[in-house]
Amino acid sequence: MHGLIFVTWEKYLSDRFGFALLDTYRRTIGETPATAPLAHRVYSDELLLAGVEAAVGLTRMPAEALLREYGRYFILNGLTSKLCGYLLNQVHSGHDLLITMRAAHDQMSRTAEAILPPIFEFEAIRDDPGGLILDYQSHRKLCMLLEGTIAGAAERYGERASVQQLTCMLHGAPSCQLAIHFARASTVLPALGATPEQQERWKSQRDLADMVYAVLPDAERDGITLAEITERLRRRHVGAHFLRPSVLLDAVYHLQHAGLAAVPVNQQGDDLMRRRYWRVPRV
Ligand code: HEM
Repeated sequence: MHGLIFVTWEKYLSDRFGFALLDTYRRTIGETPATAPLAHRVYSDELLLAGVEAAVGLTRMPAEALLREYGRYFILNGLTSKLCGYLLNQVHSGHDLLITMRAAHDQMSRTAEAILPPIFEFEAIRDDPGGLILDYQSHRKLCMLLEGTIAGAAERYGERASVQQLTCMLHGAPSCQLAIHFARASTVLPALGATPEQQERWKSQRDLADMVYAVLPDAERDGITLAEITERLRRRHVGAHFLRPSVLLDAVYHLQHAGLAAVPVNQQGDDLMRRRYWRVPRV
């Protein structure tokens, strides 16, 4: 499973229960600074299951509640907002984010074999324009996490989601079916950024990510470093402001978390300056 899940899971434990609990959690699962999760790596599903089990023991909360809370946190926390900005900032409602994620998860799975994303199918509900039936399939059967992400997706855009689970893989059904209805929240929550200035900034980030995509090579064997990306963009007369390493790195992160750029996922000892990137064809 993608490293972003592991990194944000630990962030959730720390933000929700405090750093002392995270520290105990890390000792319980035998994690050391050298084995701490990284967002650009891929880890086994078993590691997540062991982590959830350890967290259940330490927090005395049921796994279902932890996963639901974590799913909401995953969509709303600052790290996902930063890394997944390419996807999150191009839609304006929970409904549209959910629809976008069908192809987006699939695209992400093209960056590494070990990424096996959930499969979503949708059906409209007659006479309910804010409603839809979601059919979810995954060998991980994480429908509680799914419910949390739907709540988070609604909240992100100042909405509320009501979710009714119609069938469940955990009870033997071939898929989990959820009837979902999105509505504007009665008290409008501070939506995460929609001022014209923010929209303008998001657009320029997206344009830069698209320019980086255009200069990346197609194959892993031809992968290029951040310095080589900078040079290729300079030759295309891209402004100096966009060539600052921190700005370019954000663009590369956006592409990686939209499944459009890949890096070697489990290479030991790689560092930011030597890491090589290549592009992944759009689905
Ligand atoms: C409404 C929005 C979203 C929903 C409902 C959703 C749902 C889910 C679920 C249920 C999983 C668990 C995997 C499984 O079931 O097998 C998952 C995994 C994942 N999601 Fe999302 N997600 C959403 C948005 C996002 C966004 C914005 C990102 C940002 C890049 C993202 C990135 C990922 C990644 C990287 C994984 C791990 C996939 C793997 O390693 O196999 N998701 N998502």
